[in-house]
Amino acid sequence: MNDPVIIGSERSEVGLPSGMSVLRRGGSALDAAEVAVRACEDNLSDHYVGTGGLPNARGEVELDASVMIGSTRAFGAVGGVKGFPNPISIARAVLEQLPQHCLLVGEGAELFAQECGFTRAELLTADARRLYAEAVGTESESVEGEDVGATEGDRRYRQSARDLMRRLSPHEGPWGTIDVLALDAFGELCVAVSTSGYPWKYPGRVGDSAVPGAGNYCDLRHGGAACTGRGEMAMRACGARRVVDLLRCGMEPAEACAEMLRDARSIPDPFAAELRALALTPDGRHGGAAGKLGSVYAFMTADHTEPELRPRAVVDP
Ligand code: GLY
Repeated sequence: MNDPVIIGSERSEVGLPSGMSVLRRGGSALDAAEVAVRACEDNLSDHYVGTGGLPNARGEVELDASVMIGSTRAFGAVGGVKGFPNPISIARAVLEQLPQHCLLVGEGAELFAQECGFTRAELLTADARRLYAEAVGTESESVEGEDVGATEGDRRYRQSARDLMRRLSPHEGPWGTIDVLALDAFGELCVAVSTSGYPWKYPGRVGDSAVPGAGNYCDLRHGGAACTGRGEMAMRACGARRVVDLLRCGMEPAEACAEMLRDARSIPDPFAAELRALALTPDGRHGGAAGKLGSVYAFMTADHTEPELRPRAVVDP
């Protein structure tokens, strides 16, 4: 029997204790990770996941989630799902009930969720609606002095292009995707990821959290890994898979995460928002890395009564 461990990204502290309760009772890593992520999805004060998540550019909450099992490398995911508060459970249903598929998106994912009996709910809370109105708004910015000689149509066109760029720029605040990585007493590893994605994203944008090898990867031979932050970079760098490959080469978890982030920085990205990573090995070692000082992750063993925070390694700016 193994000593169970559960780790998670910032704000996963809300869910880790329920995940550890499952592991303490001898439950599976999959059950523990799902329970922990669901608690985060139901946390209304977290605006980056589940109910209360920040909406897309049209003001609609679209959710991505995935789950991967280490022993089989089975993967289930959903992307761009609207109207269902717990996408992690729909991702698990894809893994368990549609083994011929890995990823369902949009309308098809919602049809599948309905067929599975998941309950619909309103996901846009009053708080998230207010944040959207403050950030995206509707009023035009002044462009006086720039458009001498332009027609009214030109001005409207340029203004709408500026508005779109503003909406699609990464926000300044922390990126709050939830990653949970669990190791159970029988030695199984599972990685679960859930997010409302990039705030004010283009409708239909699916991020790394739903993509195997990008935001989530788990291989019982070497370890599991998950990313938070700018999903487009995790996808272009194949972030989670790269961390697992570095574990296979013998790196410690924090070192493997940091090396992946260094590699991702070699990819040109004008938006340059931060990417972070976490990893857990089959023998229970864990670590994480980030681009900023002060970044942490949370973990629990069976001896913990509450999650303990541990600093992530910082990749030099
Ligand atoms: N990492 C979450 C996202 O980019 O959607």
